[in-house]
Amino acid sequence: MDDAARRQELYRGSLFVYAPAPSALKLCEFARVLVEEAFPSLDPLRLQESLPVEKCVEILAMLKPKFIHHLNSKKFIQSALAEMGCDLEKTYFDVPRLRTAFPGDYLKSGIAYAFHPHRDTWYSAPFCQINWWMPVYPLNSENNMAFHPQYWNRPIKNGSSQYDYERWNRESRHNAAQHVKTDTRVQPRPEEPIEFEPQLRIVGNVGSMILFSGAHLHSTVPNTSGLTRYSIDFRTVHLGDVCSQAGAPNIDSACTGTTMRDYLRGSDLKQIPDEAVASYDGRARAMSKLAS
Ligand SMILES: [Fe+2]
Repeated sequence: MDDAARRQELYRGSLFVYAPAPSALKLCEFARVLVEEAFPSLDPLRLQESLPVEKCVEILAMLKPKFIHHLNSKKFIQSALAEMGCDLEKTYFDVPRLRTAFPGDYLKSGIAYAFHPHRDTWYSAPFCQINWWMPVYPLNSENNMAFHPQYWNRPIKNGSSQYDYERWNRESRHNAAQHVKTDTRVQPRPEEPIEFEPQLRIVGNVGSMILFSGAHLHSTVPNTSGLTRYSIDFRTVHLGDVCSQAGAPNIDSACTGTTMRDYLRGSDLKQIPDEAVASYDGRARAMSKLAS
């Protein structure tokens, strides 16, 4: 399947899982080098057994931005996208995040936020956003992320109308490391009980990639494995879809602002042209009538 057909499938709610490809493996290897440098002589999967949580937060507050903004991270993503059949002239990506999900109650706020069920589109992501996710160390179903596909076309009462991406950037993003025990930052959440079952947890190998629409409901699994999960994720949009307003249907997002200015062109790291972004400012696009 080529990239155009794959995007159409993703906008219909399909998930794609790919075996590890060379550049994805290099990106994971690079992340592991940085992790192991940051925690010398400790088992990075068992930090909670010997490292005070405040110290861990201090180290993550250096490690994560280093990975996110490192030129190598961008280079490996550029080649990974090419390997996956994306046109680098038309495909834009945002900087990759390195996520950690610690076991038990060690650390699950702020810099290691354990995400409640959410759609990225509640957080001002465009409906053509595609999420790419890969494990950096071996993982299992107990330290994973979960999809809740039954909500693909089922609206959820949620707090997205209170979320504005520009305001979040101004006020909340940069103080993640201050939130060690609890997280008081206002984030869009479901405002009705969520049925967690059935749910889908994909146990891939290191460097395997899951692609999914940013409109899919997904969450962090409570980590009962005793082992920390490290994963990388980044997001892409295709300029053709940005301009034609293609993407997944909006069934329940009411946030304002857009993340569209965060994406960088695959070929030269240029931002999406202003004229293409302008129509995404303001409120999330009109909610669709649900197909019956
Ligand atoms: Fe997400």
